[in-house]
Amino acid sequence: KRVVVFISGGGSNMLTLARACEAPDWPAEIACVISDKASAGGLAKAAALGIPTRVFERKEFPDKAAHEAAILSALDEIRPDLICLAGYMRLLSADFIRRHEGRILNIHPSLLPLFPGLHTHQRAIDAGMKIAGCSVHVVTEGMDEGPIVAQAAVPVLATDTAETLAARVLTVEHQLYPLALRLVAEGSVRLEDGRAVTTPSA
Ligand code: GRF
Repeated sequence: KRVVVFISGGGSNMLTLARACEAPDWPAEIACVISDKASAGGLAKAAALGIPTRVFERKEFPDKAAHEAAILSALDEIRPDLICLAGYMRLLSADFIRRHEGRILNIHPSLLPLFPGLHTHQRAIDAGMKIAGCSVHVVTEGMDEGPIVAQAAVPVLATDTAETLAARVLTVEHQLYPLALRLVAEGSVRLEDGRAVTTPSA
């Protein structure tokens, strides 16, 4: 399976996906890393692994539609089977998602459906949660609300700040995303009335 990874920043999740894809029998390869920011640190990390990168700097486009159109035409050339959003800090339009329905995954740093959106760690702490975590889900038109493919939980400690909790969650994100990508790439996940049903192969 050919995968395109979208990043906006450091790309630590992209890096773990890239490393996982280097395993010999891995059912996916990263064909390209796309970023909406030329300053994304992940671009250099991808290039260092020999992965092609493309930048679509948002401010170089007059509006969202033009920005997405440029990305969509690049995707028409690359023809990915899967798109992995990994620290991509921009919402995709309904049109974009429809063009790649069911093929877009995202990792969100909360146990969805709790805490969609931003500042998830502070909100978990403020809510008195004793666990937090991350979710890989299929991207649908609503923000952070598509079928959940996989989740990982971590404890919330009384001494936690948003930063310490974020670091603990990021560690398990790096374990979760490669697992979720493998399940989807090998066809072990099927979508059934809005839920992702996983039947791991033997
Ligand atoms: C992190 O906050 C992570 O929780 C979320 O995106 C942010 C950046 O991740 N998925 P990355 O290091 O750019 O992959």
